[in-house]
Amino acid sequence: MVAQVIDGKAFAAKVRAQVADQVAKLKEENGITPGLAVVLVGEDPASQVYVRSKGKQTVEVGMNSYEHKLDADTSEDDLLALIDKLNNDPAVHGILVQLPLPKHLNEDLVINSIDPAKDVDGFHISNVGLLGTGQKSMVPCTPLGCLMMLRDYHGSLSGMDAVVIGRSNIVGKPMAQLLLGDSCTVTIAHSRTKDLPDVVRRADIVVAAVGRPEMVPGDWIKEGATVIDVGINRIERDGKNKLVGDVDYASAAERAGAITPVPGGVGPMTIACLLANTLTACCRSNGLPEPEGLTA
Ligand code: GUN
Repeated sequence: MVAQVIDGKAFAAKVRAQVADQVAKLKEENGITPGLAVVLVGEDPASQVYVRSKGKQTVEVGMNSYEHKLDADTSEDDLLALIDKLNNDPAVHGILVQLPLPKHLNEDLVINSIDPAKDVDGFHISNVGLLGTGQKSMVPCTPLGCLMMLRDYHGSLSGMDAVVIGRSNIVGKPMAQLLLGDSCTVTIAHSRTKDLPDVVRRADIVVAAVGRPEMVPGDWIKEGATVIDVGINRIERDGKNKLVGDVDYASAAERAGAITPVPGGVGPMTIACLLANTLTACCRSNGLPEPEGLTA
């Protein structure tokens, strides 16, 4: 079997266009412009690239972008004071604090100081609990993007065997909750899992989110399975820098029914879902109906 390629770049463009349409409607009918505040502490080069990209795409869909760049030695009190200000600012509907934070700042404390209704990352313990109990919440962007692509490809996921490789709070755990919510039989595999190849071979859906280049070879993939590769790993091959996923794409594509490439798969969906979450947060806070097809 030669896999169908799930084009995340095209899908993300479609999501952004939907968001832009809804934003225009909100402005016209309700006089409201959604606003996203992004807080960056320090000068981590990868974080700077992400934050720039988030700001640019926020403006492109017609939303207001508020960037707050703080020095690497910013105190916890000063950061918490800024978050408190954003929590109370009616023009701000979404707040994102870019991770990782410098070591002297307590990440859990900072994330849990964000108003859960504005927590567009879905990292606040209230949102984690709401998602885990099947209640309306803000859903982490990367798993939400993966779910959208799976639903688009399969329609219903009910009864499918899904394996999530990786147990991070940002991807693995919320991904498993979302798949369970769509009635999959879910296994979370990790570095201590016995017989990982056999576990993966049983899966109709494989979501790989471990951050280890090409660790899943094609012969672990069940014939016809759907493979969602969350990994974005920079490697050097034949003297060149290259981005690869957690799955060995070439061999997996010979067995899978559908597969996301790296780059151009899950990656572009993350910011598209951040914009969708900001729109959702704005609609909820104004008592307006949620945008269709952009939530879990
Ligand atoms: N750093 C890497 N990915 C993310 C993300 O999804 N959200 C935040 N806040 N920081 C990140």
